[in-house]
Amino acid sequence: MKYTVVLPAAGSGKRMKADKNKLLLELFDKPIFVYTLEVFQRDPDCEAIWLAVKEEERPLMEKFVKEYDIAKVKGFAVGGTERQDSVRACLDMIPPCDVVLVHDAARPFIDSEVIGRLVKEAADSGAAIAGVRVKDTIKKAESGIITETVERENLWVIQTPQAFKYSLIKEAATAASEAGFLGTDESMLVERLGHPVKIIESNYENVKMTTPDDLIYGKAILESRRQEEQQ
Ligand code: C5P
Repeated sequence: MKYTVVLPAAGSGKRMKADKNKLLLELFDKPIFVYTLEVFQRDPDCEAIWLAVKEEERPLMEKFVKEYDIAKVKGFAVGGTERQDSVRACLDMIPPCDVVLVHDAARPFIDSEVIGRLVKEAADSGAAIAGVRVKDTIKKAESGIITETVERENLWVIQTPQAFKYSLIKEAATAASEAGFLGTDESMLVERLGHPVKIIESNYENVKMTTPDDLIYGKAILESRRQEEQQ
């Protein structure tokens, strides 16, 4: 099942405590976002890659796209203040297609098996998002005092990719923009239209490189994958 991927890559390095876009930080020999691009370049079902980048970072990002031969990159949109604005900028540029996959460029360890299941479900029912089951006990607190222990059974940690039929995500993005609604993921935009969104169970390695400790975990994942390849 073919799809187009939109990669928001216009964030900062604030929580990473980096003085530049964290996606440009290297894990061993390559910038983080190059690992993400390579997953989609390798996936035969991915037809096109669109990136949202900061205007001033575009030349550098383009240089890496050329250097690592990511030929599926079809265009760059100018990212916005919020992640949702960056995704919207890409959605405004991409030609109509069947399924659009939105994926944080900061999640370099996504595997193509999960992508395949997401795309299939989105093609069937309209919307599917990646998530993992909550492992820890979750509690609510007010002023530092526990008010509730939340039943874990139905709780999910939501990730990207999030896959949608093109027409549905376009409608949801337009409706959100007209209402001035800001969500923390694309699923929220679709949920507010009353459209069901299916969760596809992903894996814990699909971590978002957010804080400095994630880089340690990221290197450990790469190391173990390299060892597996050598066996
Ligand atoms: O900041 P965070 O890691 O949650 O951002 C998730 C993804 O969205 C990252 O790949 C980041 O580059 C991107 N982003 C963006 N535009 C923004 C903020 C974040 O493209 N304004």
